[in-house]
Amino acid sequence: MKLPPYNIFPNITGDKIYLRQILISDIKDLVEISFYDAVQATTVKQATVMQVKINQDYIDGNSIHWGIADQLTNKIVGTCGYYRGLDKGEGELGCVLLPPYRGQGYMTSAMALAIEFGLNTIGLKRIWAATSQQNKEAIKLLERLNFIKIADLDDNEVEYELKK
Ligand SMILES: CC(C)(COP(=O)(O)OP(=O)(O)OC[C@H]1O[C@@H](n2cnc3c(N)ncnc32)[C@H](O)[C@@H]1OP(=O)(O)O)[C@@H](O)C(=O)NCCC(=O)NCCS
Repeated sequence: MKLPPYNIFPNITGDKIYLRQILISDIKDLVEISFYDAVQATTVKQATVMQVKINQDYIDGNSIHWGIADQLTNKIVGTCGYYRGLDKGEGELGCVLLPPYRGQGYMTSAMALAIEFGLNTIGLKRIWAATSQQNKEAIKLLERLNFIKIADLDDNEVEYELKK
């Protein structure tokens, strides 16, 4: 197991995107997709406070959160990462795209990179994700990436796990 933090933040390059650290200058574009403890930011100030907490969670080894950047523009189109379970050798993957960038394959590419990192660098034994039963886009994304449904949870949530 090689848990965060790392000497150098792991930037990962894919085909049309790369995963990189979120910079202060990115935050103004990310307010509507900034969440912490299931609360959504409504101002740049709130999103900045959340980013400080996210950075601390990374330093404490509890999570890793990437910005997904378009290689052509370096603009952040969304975020993804592992937010729970690392101490147990597991990773709960989460992700969100800014609305204008949905339906173009960005997240499929980003999650494939995050999964590869989770298995081969962190050394995770299990990768999972939870979403609501109604979230068709998230379920399609997870199934496209080889996740299978393993449980119905409370509050209409479903749990998916990466098939080994
Ligand atoms: C879940 C979420 C990230 C999925 O976004 P998405 O845009 O559907 O996923 P992708 O970026 O991988 O794009 C895939 C779509 O682009 C299409 N697409 C277009 N060009 C593509 C390309 N070059 N490569 C792959 N897919 C492409 C695919 O056909 C697919 O569309 P379809 O589902 O209608 O078949 C998005 O809906 C979101 O941010 N939701 C809110 C947060 C959320 O629910 N998170 C989930 C937590 S588990």
